[in-house]
Amino acid sequence: MEPFENSLDFAKKMDGDDPFKSFRDEFHIPKNKAGEDEVYFVGNSLGLQPKRTEQYVQQELDSWKERGVRGHFEGANPWLPFHEFLTPQMASIVGGKVNEVLIMNSLTTNLHLMMASFYQPNAIRNKVLLEQHAFPSDHYAVESQIQSRGFDPAQCMHLIKPRVGEECLRTEDIIKAIAENFDQIALVLLPGIQYYTGQRLDILTISKTCQEQGICFGVDLAHAVGNVPLRLHDWQVDFAVWCTYKYLNSGPGSVGGCFVHEKHVRRTDIPRLLGWWGHDKSTRFEMSNEFEPTPTAEVWQLSNPPILSLAAIRASLSVFEEAGPIETLCEKSRRLTGYFEWLLKQNLEGVVDIVTPSDPDARGCQLSLSIQPDKKPGKEIHSELEDLGFMTDWREPNIIRAAPVPLYNRYSDVFRFVEQLKKLV
Ligand SMILES: Cc1ncc(COP(=O)(O)O)c(C=O)c1O
Repeated sequence: MEPFENSLDFAKKMDGDDPFKSFRDEFHIPKNKAGEDEVYFVGNSLGLQPKRTEQYVQQELDSWKERGVRGHFEGANPWLPFHEFLTPQMASIVGGKVNEVLIMNSLTTNLHLMMASFYQPNAIRNKVLLEQHAFPSDHYAVESQIQSRGFDPAQCMHLIKPRVGEECLRTEDIIKAIAENFDQIALVLLPGIQYYTGQRLDILTISKTCQEQGICFGVDLAHAVGNVPLRLHDWQVDFAVWCTYKYLNSGPGSVGGCFVHEKHVRRTDIPRLLGWWGHDKSTRFEMSNEFEPTPTAEVWQLSNPPILSLAAIRASLSVFEEAGPIETLCEKSRRLTGYFEWLLKQNLEGVVDIVTPSDPDARGCQLSLSIQPDKKPGKEIHSELEDLGFMTDWREPNIIRAAPVPLYNRYSDVFRFVEQLKKLV
């Protein structure tokens, strides 16, 4: 990392030189009690609203108002193929092909749909390997899938955890756990970025191991999509699921995304849960009871999608498209988070521990901070920060998560945040 300076002037100079500085203006920035822009470091929870979202959603409301049901076929963006308008940009963000990516449902629903196809337990191979500290929804989804197939979650959930005294998982330990239990594992499910620690996992290496052992590999990308470059197709991941309301700025509870590797898309030997929107579109409206599979990942689609939510995703993806390749945006992200880390070390060493790995390849923009136990409790500090308009989130038992998002956060936000944190601790 280049030499940084511990001053607001330096941070402002970095803001001035930032090739993405104009993108901040594309977003509504919430205000603090004094009417000033908040320092919004919770894009890992709910991304900010792009200003253009209103217009994109309004356009579809108008189409509905003016055309009623004809909106499915008429207007600038007919609703029937609307989801297809989103696929190319989404595919480029996750490094998938357009026939491998689709936008539908929510993350957990998609996880269930994927497990219905890719978790096929038998008497010997019936375990799912996941982290002990997986996001609870993933844990419940796996648990209930195991139960619904007549197996015992207590026997079939192989939970991996960091070494004693460590917060993050080591790739070698994950590989070892897979290799040692390969004959019993039916599915490995891991996050692209761990929600609590902010650790980015080495998906390529894990995927290679799973392939060598003939194990299906699924990834939860909730905290990775729009945050770090991804190459799902090349990495040979079997499936992935994500949400669009975090780094993809598409609004609360907005529709999620799903990737299925091309090699599985046309398979006839795996079970799928079906709905009419997975039926080939050329004959879908013949309303036959004979299911004709769409020859893309869309075969997993069940229902006609909520257009108003897709319109918000479309607005957000257009901002990403203007920002250019995600790799370039992530260069800013590395610098911004690198500056954040540097300032924390300069100012709060021994007071605030950074749980997130310091290797920029092993994280995204989020840093997870834990306050030393002899200082003011972290939860109190988090709520004082929030009161002052410095937005982070608190995750039990002891983490303040702070995510400077490169599209709308500035180096001066990072500087101000660390100054404020220093005052509070
Ligand atoms: C890592 C992770 N997985 C799963 C979920 C659940 O997502 P959804 O409510 O869209 O199903 C979340 C939500 O924040 C998450 O962070």
